[in-house]
Amino acid sequence: MSFHPLMPYGEGWHKSDRIVAAEGQPFAFTPDRVRQLEEICGKYPPDRRKSAVLAALYFVQEQQGYLTANAMRHVAEFLRITPAEVEDVATYYVMFYRAPVGRYVLQVCRTLSCALGGAERVVEALSEKLGIKVGETDASGMFTLMEFECLGACDRAPVVMVNNEYWHERLTPENCSKFVDDIKVRGEAALSGCYLKVEN
Ligand code: FES
Repeated sequence: MSFHPLMPYGEGWHKSDRIVAAEGQPFAFTPDRVRQLEEICGKYPPDRRKSAVLAALYFVQEQQGYLTANAMRHVAEFLRITPAEVEDVATYYVMFYRAPVGRYVLQVCRTLSCALGGAERVVEALSEKLGIKVGETDASGMFTLMEFECLGACDRAPVVMVNNEYWHERLTPENCSKFVDDIKVRGEAALSGCYLKVEN
């Protein structure tokens, strides 16, 4: 480790005080999730339990909707790793929410093909329809708007993923208002799906 001569190194300078999520309520996995997670951990060598960290974080999100500091500490204890290791994963991947989100998280791809296809205007139209900016949840608590990177369906741009799972392709700014209204009425059934899945 090297030291910069002008840095004011004081006691505890090396300790991070970063806050990556709110403390939240006390958290523990449900017995069913404990069982499932132990099964997943069992697929790895005993000293590699941390290989299950993605699954554990998905379970947290499934159980309480988003990640909190308490939940990440619980994951760290469960996997016998440090909270920092869990936080590193949680902050690296965009599919993990670190604040409450709406029932439908609209994730608009903004990478090149979608950008050329009008993704920015799609975001603007959704933003206007919902009365929120990117990263916010609308007043009803139903929709959260996010931007994403390439979803792998570049020939069907602009693409929107919903709740990390469901798909809608070729959304235009003109269709955004109807798109939102349709989701309100029909939920995921309003989405076009992924053409690869639809055609296979
Ligand atoms: S650029 Fe949007 S899906 Fe690839």
